[in-house]
Amino acid sequence: MPHMTAFARNQWYVTAYAHEVSRELLGRTILGEPLVLYRTEEDGSPVALADRCVHRRYPLSESRLDGDRIVCGYHGFTYDTTGTCVYVPGQKRIPRTARVAAYPVVEQDALIWVWIGDPALADPQRIPRAPHLADPAMTTVTGMEPIDCDYGLLVDNLMDLSHETYLHGGYIGTPEVAETPITTEVDEGAGIVRVSRHMDDAECPPFYARSTGIQGRITRWQDIEYHAPCLYLLHSRIAPVGVVPEADGSDPNGFHTEITYAITPSGPGKVYDFWAVSRDFATDDEEVTTFLRDFNHTVVMQDVDALNLLQRALGSEPAGYQELSINIDTGGLAARRILARLVGEGDKPLERVQ
Ligand code: FES
Ligand SMILES: [Fe+2]
Repeated sequence: MPHMTAFARNQWYVTAYAHEVSRELLGRTILGEPLVLYRTEEDGSPVALADRCVHRRYPLSESRLDGDRIVCGYHGFTYDTTGTCVYVPGQKRIPRTARVAAYPVVEQDALIWVWIGDPALADPQRIPRAPHLADPAMTTVTGMEPIDCDYGLLVDNLMDLSHETYLHGGYIGTPEVAETPITTEVDEGAGIVRVSRHMDDAECPPFYARSTGIQGRITRWQDIEYHAPCLYLLHSRIAPVGVVPEADGSDPNGFHTEITYAITPSGPGKVYDFWAVSRDFATDDEEVTTFLRDFNHTVVMQDVDALNLLQRALGSEPAGYQELSINIDTGGLAARRILARLVGEGDKPLERVQ
């Protein structure tokens, strides 16, 4: 078996976009636990239950809703929103053990977060924020791709954007991305890694040339903020060369794009890659929206193909292979260190200050 990054169970994970959870039952597997998700008729709040009927383990996500209750599609065991069985066929007495797990679930910033670990430790205040996803002043496109790789490989991929030059050349990569050194800051206590790359005079890749209309060279700032284990934010600011983008986003000549990923381990060697691109320019322009959705999907699929391939290559080797790390890997190595600590500490949640 190749190396697999262990799961940090006592953490919040994105399980779906808010718009994916509805009155249709949705099945998703998080940290190896199959879940069924839906919204109540009563007030629309999201519910997350274990996706296996306690009777013969039929998937509840392949069953149906009766009001706010799930009726198992096999023999009719019926569960309420707390996972308690309220009906079994053929007898009055409901066995005391007839229940499925109900997971803590929170809807925030257009995302549905779940907690798989010890429910007593689930503190919604500790969910990292991505307010731009629900900001009416921005336009957001989203997608999700399952990848057959260790989630640690996706963390590595996102922490080091020098790969844009090679894997995404002609899309989002230009020579300056790989050539410009990074600065890295690590907040061990809060479990946050920041990696910045500021390019003062760079080629404008098609992703930005076609969405902003800028012709010629640009100032391009990439500021990554990774909230281990699940939420990755890339604050991207670009402007025609010579204009320094203001950090607070107030620069009228700057174009601000928030690129969000949620890295949610689905099972061993499987990860959900949630991606979103939010922009503060041309927000009503449907053509730009369609372009960014299609173009970013193409870019994400370049990563998906590369990571599927990399996992297969690693999987064919015995464990304990050697890697060689260089400066560009500083952020990724810090992220691995924090993930290892979160797994080891198990039940100690991060000290997150909102
Ligand atoms: S498997 Fe669900 S009722 Fe039998
Ligand atoms: Fe990539």
